[in-house]
Amino acid sequence: MFIKIIDARIKILTFFFFTTFISINAQNINEKYHLVPWPKEISENNQKHLINKDFLITVNDIDNKRVLKATTQFLRRLSGRTGVFIDKGFTEIITTDISPSLLINFQRAGKLELYEDESYQLIITSKQISLNAVTDIGVLRGLETLLQLVSHNKNNFFFHGVSIKDAPRFPWRGLMIDVARHYEPIAVLKKNLDAMAAVKLNVFHWHLTEDQGFRVQIKSRPKFHELASDGQYYTHSQISEVVQYASDLGIRVVPEFDVPGHATSWLVAYPEIASKDTIYEIERYAGIFDPTLDPTNDKTYEILDDVFTEMAPLFPDKYFHIGGDENEGKHWDENKKIQKFKKEHELKTNHDLQTYFNIKVQKILEKNGKIMMGWDEIFQPDLPKNVVIHSWRGRESMISAAKQGYKTVLSKGFYIDLMLPIKSHYLNEPIAENHGLTNNQLSNILGGEATMWGELVTPLSIDSRIWPRTAAIAERLWSSKDVKDYENMLNRLHTVSYRLEELGITHIRNRDVILRNISDNQNIKSLINLTKICEPLKAYERNKGGKEYKTYSPFTLFVDACNTDAIDAINFNKTVKMYLKDKSKSSKETLINFLDKWVLNNIEFQEINNNPLLKQLTSFSLNLAEISTTIKSGIEQSTFSLLNYNKSKSLLMELKKPIADTELAIILGLESLIQNFGKEYVKS
Ligand code: ACM
Repeated sequence: MFIKIIDARIKILTFFFFTTFISINAQNINEKYHLVPWPKEISENNQKHLINKDFLITVNDIDNKRVLKATTQFLRRLSGRTGVFIDKGFTEIITTDISPSLLINFQRAGKLELYEDESYQLIITSKQISLNAVTDIGVLRGLETLLQLVSHNKNNFFFHGVSIKDAPRFPWRGLMIDVARHYEPIAVLKKNLDAMAAVKLNVFHWHLTEDQGFRVQIKSRPKFHELASDGQYYTHSQISEVVQYASDLGIRVVPEFDVPGHATSWLVAYPEIASKDTIYEIERYAGIFDPTLDPTNDKTYEILDDVFTEMAPLFPDKYFHIGGDENEGKHWDENKKIQKFKKEHELKTNHDLQTYFNIKVQKILEKNGKIMMGWDEIFQPDLPKNVVIHSWRGRESMISAAKQGYKTVLSKGFYIDLMLPIKSHYLNEPIAENHGLTNNQLSNILGGEATMWGELVTPLSIDSRIWPRTAAIAERLWSSKDVKDYENMLNRLHTVSYRLEELGITHIRNRDVILRNISDNQNIKSLINLTKICEPLKAYERNKGGKEYKTYSPFTLFVDACNTDAIDAINFNKTVKMYLKDKSKSSKETLINFLDKWVLNNIEFQEINNNPLLKQLTSFSLNLAEISTTIKSGIEQSTFSLLNYNKSKSLLMELKKPIADTELAIILGLESLIQNFGKEYVKS
């Protein structure tokens, strides 16, 4: 009925106002509702559903644990946000004599498997909210949308009156967390699972083993957790706890045991399966290392069989990731026995040898009811067609795998550890134009995963590296291809990002925790201002070559308090552009406010600068103040002496250098202003 009215209304309006009305209306809708990911279909009715103490949820199947837990959490989050003392703290079964605020209907419990139905339909009127879905997982997705629709005026909290029909674009929408480079406690994983569910991600890829650690208890081979984990590993019961927690949120868990390379920790425990006879120690640095399993040794497969057979029932998901990346095979080349084996088996290259290994591993997994998944490097047309190729080096491998009938998942472009801006991930469309794939082949592209590699993150900083950028990736993977207005998304993301705090995500608040640490609890205002213009070095420039930071180095530094998309830098650079275009009074004022801020900031910074941890920022803060003063004089006096021009150019040179592992993100704006002064005012 409601939808019919909306449809009729839109039809009539379209008739009178032709298409411009619809596009303006569509524009308004996604500015008004801060939904991430943006739903497939949405229309509004201008009603409000008030939230008061009588708020009541009923559901058609009260025995469904997933929905019961989700609705209970929903009620807690709702009362937490609104301050409303809701009378009924738990969901009730639908009866004919109760008219609930939120009426939930679904047909069946969802299975945690690829292609499961996650669709839902949400209709909100002043009288009632109805949420309908095929599966309980669809109900969860709808509840998250509903929570994003909470709004308020001066007197009331309410849900916006809208009608939504929603379903994901891709069935595989993941986040990988590397817990091997740095161990992440269960509590960190759980809150990140909550946040994943909040933006409708559905795969947690758990990267469990690396050169730097083996993070799982293996009962049949205890040397793994005893010798190769520094005591930081997950027990069987902890794994089950995480898998269950994820399952309750409608999230699949895909484990990764990275072999044959990235496997120093395996060889710390069992050096007898190494390709080189030497002493192995847990790796403390970052990088690509030579240790690799011996694919010619029967014992290797015996141990792999023990590990995978023990792990298979703990991870009920069908898919099992074996890594397979960056095995350069140097130790294979140095080993005469392995060389002889290659010749005997007519394996020409190390890639052929790795394929030999992969095929044997795939058999072990198949025996355990699992489908093998691996990074790009495992791709080889001899593998069974159900193997999934995880593309990280380039889109070409994804397209090539899809063409040859393999399912694939994209991570290229979703590497959040590169510390690249939100925009680069958001606009990383998995299916680019001119892909040359048939519809059948296109369906092999399952989706994507954000990858949180763990070299430079600890529990203190991991949330700020994952969020909010992963929410933008979640939209890329859930919403239609044509939802790609970056500025619009950013506006929505702003709200959704801070709401993640409700789930315990520390991406915002830990900035100040770190700044209090490095200032020994002095006034951190000036440091906060610096984090608003400094961004962590990008593309692995921090810890270049992997030789500066060990796994146990401090990750409590100024750079760890900084993030991508530094807000003052974005606004300053934008203002410079505007000013140079229009020279308007308002853009001039805004620019001068920024410059004054940085001059004053230096005075405040020097007041707290009494601590070795802040020393690295001293000359940066001074130079920033000086360049600000110089540029301000140019703006205010509409003239710029050659002396000032040269001075600002040399200050700029200094400011371009890395600052305590960060880069100054206002360089572009400063440079444009100086160049402009050079052209307009400086007379040689
Ligand atoms: C990878 O980044 N080595 C998969």
